Amino acid sequence: MIHAKNIHKFYDKLEVLKGVDLHIKKGEIVSIVGASGAGKTTLLQILGTLDKPDHNADSSLTINGRDILELQNVQNKSSKQERNFKIITWTGSIYIILLAVYLLFFRTKIFDDTLRLVASISLFLPIISMLFYYNRYFKKKSKQDKVLSDFRNLNLGFIFQFHQLLPEFTALENVCIPAHIAGKKPSETEKEAVKLLTYLGLSHRINHKPSELSGGEQQRVAVARALINKPDVIFADEPSGNLDTHSAENLHQLFFQLRDEFGQTFVIVTHNEELANMADRKLVMVDGQISN
Ligand SMILES: Nc1ncnc2c1ncn2[C@@H]1O[C@H](COP(=O)(O)OP(=O)(O)O)[C@@H](O)[C@H]1O
Ligand SMILES: [Mg+2]
Repeated sequence: MIHAKNIHKFYDKLEVLKGVDLHIKKGEIVSIVGASGAGKTTLLQILGTLDKPDHNADSSLTINGRDILELQNVQNKSSKQERNFKIITWTGSIYIILLAVYLLFFRTKIFDDTLRLVASISLFLPIISMLFYYNRYFKKKSKQDKVLSDFRNLNLGFIFQFHQLLPEFTALENVCIPAHIAGKKPSETEKEAVKLLTYLGLSHRINHKPSELSGGEQQRVAVARALINKPDVIFADEPSGNLDTHSAENLHQLFFQLRDEFGQTFVIVTHNEELANMADRKLVMVDGQISN
């Protein structure tokens, strides 16, 4: 399901991930534990395609068979597309500077005589070609970005420590958002959201706003939101970090229930010993590497 090989990440000169290898099977619940600052959140963000690892000839990341680094253009830094972009930007900039110098110092000559036509064409043709090229380049890039964000929206779900629900929307509306983004039919989405919220024991709370819900309830709404597009993998970053013991236990049981019922894969960063030990596999992160 998830295969990561030799993942590196630098923040300036600080190497936060020092070559992480990770293989997670479908339907597995894996917990990641480790001291604060060990790189857990960074790793989760990269596995969740929310962040890019640093370029490394030996790195790879596939989720559900999709080559994520290719989608993110991480391994293509030296590709033809990027190289052309650099060449065109550099030659174009030099041309424009020369042109500006020419116009400043020899301005009058351009408009003098029969050279007028040749001069105008030679002035504007390169600039117009550059504009065309940039237009095509950025269109192509935004198409690539869309492929990635569609992949993320349809295949991956996220649960964070702070639920990050939108305060002005009801529980039901919050849950529906990822499905609306995916362009699913609103009537079906709403039915599915009600079903999910009911399954999570929130049927009497669907029209409440987050501020009217308890911490545990808010987190269950966030779980429903993460599940609405039926993702194959759910990434959770300290999902119960903000909950009391009882709500935390309920949430943890829910993860296992969901896995048994829907076969979902979970990657959970947690400081909660009990949750970490309940997982099928516990990975310990030490200083940017997985130590077991
Ligand atoms: N956006 C960032 N810019 C610079 N440094 C960062 C950034 N995000 C995290 N770090 C640093 O990377 C290290 C690992 O952070 P993180 O992955 O959040 O660790 P953990 O989740 O295990 O506590 C920390 O030293 C942190 O300060
Ligand atoms: Mg963290």
